[in-house]
Amino acid sequence: MNRAGVGQGAGDPDADEAALQQALDAMASAGVALACRAIRAGDEAALLPAEAVSIASTRPDRRRASGAARLAARDLLRARGIGACAIPRAPSGEPIWPEGWTGSLAHDRIWAVAALGRVGEVGSLGIDVEPAEPLPDDILALVVRPDDRLPAPGSPLDARLVFSAKEAVYKATFPLHRRILDYDDIAIDLPRGFATTRTGHAARLFHTSTPCIVTLAVVEP
Ligand SMILES: CC(C)(COP(=O)(O)OP(=O)(O)OC[C@H]1O[C@@H](n2cnc3c(N)ncnc32)[C@H](O)[C@@H]1OP(=O)(O)O)[C@@H](O)C(=O)NCCC(=O)NCCS
Repeated sequence: MNRAGVGQGAGDPDADEAALQQALDAMASAGVALACRAIRAGDEAALLPAEAVSIASTRPDRRRASGAARLAARDLLRARGIGACAIPRAPSGEPIWPEGWTGSLAHDRIWAVAALGRVGEVGSLGIDVEPAEPLPDDILALVVRPDDRLPAPGSPLDARLVFSAKEAVYKATFPLHRRILDYDDIAIDLPRGFATTRTGHAARLFHTSTPCIVTLAVVEP
């Protein structure tokens, strides 16, 4: 996914991270901690052995992004007293968290983000990161479906927010139903910050659009 701007060479990664972290802290819901990392050369080396073997992709950029996401997640765990622990990728894709914790990871070409919550305080979490750019028209028609509700008046970023929300909801609900959902299977109500799925699950939605789009989906316990 291409993105111009934040974190793309022009900026200082530390300053960019501080700006996004501030936005994440402002959007986080109760009981959920969020962290970000501007993906840096060499982040693939942060993958612990159990993680390195669990990630099938051999693409260096994908492995670098996965390493960066785990660095962000480990920062969150460390702040809660959990020492260096692996967060492998299950064969079905979802990250495997240490006992008592749940969370979600996402990355694009620039950013890696992580969400973490305590089992019992949250049911399940999903996170997504996207460039703050309108969704191309050909993709928009696939993503925004009749059951989705957008604000009026709208913004050019609304369809991208729906896309991001569907990815986050998919990640939050997959561990609960273990089914592959299509865009038609998830209904997003942007004004209410709420999503429902054809599998009967519901999630609250939180997002920021600056400096990039990050959506958090939270399923109640
Ligand atoms: C999970 C998915 C929605 C998003 O993946 P993506 O855009 O390639 O990449 P993202 O950076 O947003 O997320 C990647 C992370 O999602 C997590 N993930 C992957 N599959 C997952 C699943 N089934 N459930 C929960 N989390 C999952 C992993 O932690 C992964 O990071 P890792 O490879 O470093 O471990 C996509 O890979 C997928 O499985 N799609 C199939 C269903 C679909 O697209 N339906 C239409 C939209 S709802």
